[in-house]
Amino acid sequence: MSLTRVHNLSISLDGFATGEPQSADAPFGHAGERLHEWMFATRFWDDSGTTGVDNAFAERHGPGIGAEIMGANKFGPPGWQDDPDWKGWWGPNPPFHTPTFVLTHRPRSPLEMEGGTTFHFLDASPAEALDAARAAAEGQDVRIGGGATVVRDFLAAGLVDHLHLVQVPIVLGRGVRVWDGLEALEDDFDIEAVSAPSGVTHLTFRRTVVG
Ligand SMILES: NC(=O)c1ccc[n+]([C@@H]2O[C@H](COP(=O)([O-])OP(=O)(O)OC[C@H]3O[C@@H](n4cnc5c(N)ncnc54)[C@H](OP(=O)(O)O)[C@@H]3O)[C@@H](O)[C@H]2O)c1
Repeated sequence: MSLTRVHNLSISLDGFATGEPQSADAPFGHAGERLHEWMFATRFWDDSGTTGVDNAFAERHGPGIGAEIMGANKFGPPGWQDDPDWKGWWGPNPPFHTPTFVLTHRPRSPLEMEGGTTFHFLDASPAEALDAARAAAEGQDVRIGGGATVVRDFLAAGLVDHLHLVQVPIVLGRGVRVWDGLEALEDDFDIEAVSAPSGVTHLTFRRTVVG
């Protein structure tokens, strides 16, 4: 059975997965790089990085994934839809290496990149997007890559099987929150927490209630 997985989604203590305002110069707004400093320190991110708890969690991001779904605001800064040459933040060889579905109300033709990533642009419900991604994943799992809005919408629709969140000990106060509207989400999951020496807490939610 193909699972729907979220990995390395980093949130502040008050639940924000990005700050504001998002822009080309500051993709995470006033959060800067603070949500991901734990990950930048790992070997997952940098060959000379750490190999402890944070790395062990971070490395689970890739194996078994056959497609990704992301939101329009992860793919580019506000207004990217007006730039016909915008191909994402990641250069000619993006780190996805699978079909990657970008949810947007202004879809465009698919973009084939180096290294196995093809961006497909979809105006579709979460369930419809997941059907398309599952077909492309050829039996492997589908990663919901963020941002907060898309993860929240997939959680609200009951479409996430495995959720790995990284709670970072900062208070952002504003931005885009993951939890809004998800009251009692915990009822559908087994939840484990692992604290890392870096100060972050890895929270793993595994779905126990189907549908
Ligand atoms: N903390 C982390 O670990 C993490 C991980 C990934 C990303 N991020 C960050 O999170 C931020 C983006 O998050 P976000 O919550 O602002 O936005 P997002 O989830 O990336 O994208 C939301 C946008 O996607 C489009 N969309 C979503 N669902 C759709 C649907 N069903 N059909 C059609 N279009 C749909 C809409 O854009 P349009 O209406 O404009 O088309 C919507 O405004 C970025 O700063 C990114 O870097 C953080």
